[in-house]
Amino acid sequence: MILVTGGAGFIGSNFVLDWLAHRDEPVLNLDKLTYAGNRRNLASLDGDARHVFVRGDIGDAALVARLLAEHRPRAVINFAAESHVDRSIHGAEDFVQTNVVGTFRLLEAVRAHWLARPEAERAAFRFLHVSTDEVYGSLAPDAPAFTERHPYEPNSPYSASKAASDHLVRAWHHTHGLPVLTTNCSNNYGPFHFPEKLIPLMIVNALAGKPLPVYGDGLQVRDWLYVGDHCSAIRRVLEAGRVGETYNVGGWNEQTNIAIVKTICALLDQLRPRADGQSYATQITHVKDRPGHDRRYAIDARKIESDLGWRPAETFDSGIRKTVRWFLDHPEWVAEVQSGAYRDWVQAQYQGAA
Ligand code: NAD
Ligand code: TYD
Repeated sequence: MILVTGGAGFIGSNFVLDWLAHRDEPVLNLDKLTYAGNRRNLASLDGDARHVFVRGDIGDAALVARLLAEHRPRAVINFAAESHVDRSIHGAEDFVQTNVVGTFRLLEAVRAHWLARPEAERAAFRFLHVSTDEVYGSLAPDAPAFTERHPYEPNSPYSASKAASDHLVRAWHHTHGLPVLTTNCSNNYGPFHFPEKLIPLMIVNALAGKPLPVYGDGLQVRDWLYVGDHCSAIRRVLEAGRVGETYNVGGWNEQTNIAIVKTICALLDQLRPRADGQSYATQITHVKDRPGHDRRYAIDARKIESDLGWRPAETFDSGIRKTVRWFLDHPEWVAEVQSGAYRDWVQAQYQGAA
């Protein structure tokens, strides 16, 4: 089996669903169920013996050691993190705890597990760390996109904590020989995306008749990748990536924030026109910029293509259409996330330990 951490979050839950749709190898899913973790994302796996869910912290060394000894995974894929830049600006404590200390404790527990395996299992074992392009910092408008050799220049507390975790993973390979792989991916979007991030926030606010808050001039650039493509990239790196290497994953799809928001408005105008006949674009409002806001991210994804034959399957047109449809088709998921009702469920399920 494989151990997935953070598998109840946005990308992690997509990955678990995608994995079990492609493989029969079971998944042990360790997730703390923070505000961003939603067990309901995995409801379609209820009763499926291939999915074992454990609520817990990657920083809980005793728990992780017990799980590793009990289930003996052949690989660990580390998605667990605090992931929202704006939250990291308001308070970075949880980011340092989970992204830095948590990754360190996880690496130590995994190293002990790996060392205790017989030779053949040790050779085949992998620790895949899921990271972000934000560790590279901000690009000038005409600068070439980030390659794997770009210097680390993190600018936000979030990206600094992810950069620290990447460095720990690298060191555990170079010093201890742990067979690691790291992926640095651009901005994802798709089903189960928590509506604090740009794309889902704009969709749910538009439908609720609320303002669409664009930071500053809205000309910041991100490279958007459909989450299903990120999942296939991770599967491919796990299967064929060279130990100790890092792979940049991107969508070849740079767009300004304002262009993204206008595309969403145009799609909603088509699929769910406003009762008053006006465009959702009238709800766009420019608000105060994010402090330290990175101007541009862009991924040069040639290495993963030439070495591993991976390219995104979705275009932005197809991916954003699927995503908007998914949100239109799942109003109960949105309502539950927004009301916090899923947190009440966590409270009941875990007897007040939430
Ligand atoms: P998310 O915030 O939606 O989910 C994070 C998950 O981790 C949640 O289920 C949460 O409960 C869990 N978690 C948090 N702290 C934990 C802990 N201490 N122990 C166990 N579980 C814990 O994040 P996401 O957008 O799904 O991102 C997943 C990973 O991918 C992160 O490492 C992130 O840095 C990286 N990443 C995200 C993007 C993106 O666009 N969202 C892009 C590139 C890389
Ligand atoms: P976000 O989804 O938070 O991802 P990240 O900051 O990790 O790239 O934001 C994507 C871009 O959208 C980023 O440039 C900030 C901007 N943004 C807004 O303009 N308004 C918003 O309400 C949010 C959440 C983000």
